[in-house]
Amino acid sequence: MTTTPVSDRQTQREEALIETVVASFDNTPDARLKEVMQSLTRHLHAFVREVRLTEAEWNTAIAFLTDAGHITDDRRQEFILLSDVLGISMQTVAVNNEAHGDATEATVFGPFFVDDAPLIANGGDIAGSAPGQPCWVEGSVRDTEGNPLPGARIEVWEADEDGFYDVQYSDDRVAGRAHLVADDEGEYCFWGLTPTPYPIPNDGPVGKLLDAVHRSPMRASHLHFMVSSPAKRTLVTHIFVAGDPLLTSDSVFGVKESLVLDFAEQAAGSPTPDGRDLGSRTWSRTTFDIVLAPEA
Ligand code: BEZ
Ligand code: FE
Repeated sequence: MTTTPVSDRQTQREEALIETVVASFDNTPDARLKEVMQSLTRHLHAFVREVRLTEAEWNTAIAFLTDAGHITDDRRQEFILLSDVLGISMQTVAVNNEAHGDATEATVFGPFFVDDAPLIANGGDIAGSAPGQPCWVEGSVRDTEGNPLPGARIEVWEADEDGFYDVQYSDDRVAGRAHLVADDEGEYCFWGLTPTPYPIPNDGPVGKLLDAVHRSPMRASHLHFMVSSPAKRTLVTHIFVAGDPLLTSDSVFGVKESLVLDFAEQAAGSPTPDGRDLGSRTWSRTTFDIVLAPEA
């Protein structure tokens, strides 16, 4: 839609308002809060002026935010979802995780992490009752000089093959999540599930927005990691499955090429790394070597 050019007088009025609002933050004692509020004011006003926002559109936006507030509770966070689908979560990840040597890249945290996931030994199984194809995951945790990081804490969590995390079920099951500790050589391994695609929660206002703009709620198949070690930057990331058609259209823009791994499919009956008997089931395996950047 084209907008009518505005007169010089109108431009002056609009610009004067911006300066008045910016100046209203001049006495903010916290310098960072002042910087953020003044910059936010300039950018929001620029947006309203650029699209010549109508009052009806502004009311629609307020109704949207009201709906987002109403659907948000302890288990559902619609505002984070909004930030995710606008790419703001990923932009914040980018700004705060500057590339450092060959440190593993970070990606979006997502809403499904839970503190106090059970501890498993190396070689243990995170799946619990979660259904899906077994997947053997192994790798190392090192610093950017290549030194192993024994004792690194590795949190892992993922959806089951029906596309749900344990916390999305109404019972109190704990499944598809655990934490483990890298061994004396900085190595780790566990059984999980081969990641499968799933939609982000799309029964609320964010889902309606995606519908209106013909965007899919689907996330590319992934397995979440959060890895920490003393004096190292904590890494929040996922690994993705090579060949997944959703890699180019992830609804929250989380995919990074360096995080796409081969999940090699293994025939039923082929020997497993730890001698586990999977009977007639197929399984997959992948290797994820993790490099942690030094703490800033
Ligand atoms: C997730 O990967 O778990 C996720 C990320 C962003 C929004 C919804 C889900
Ligand atoms: Fe996820």
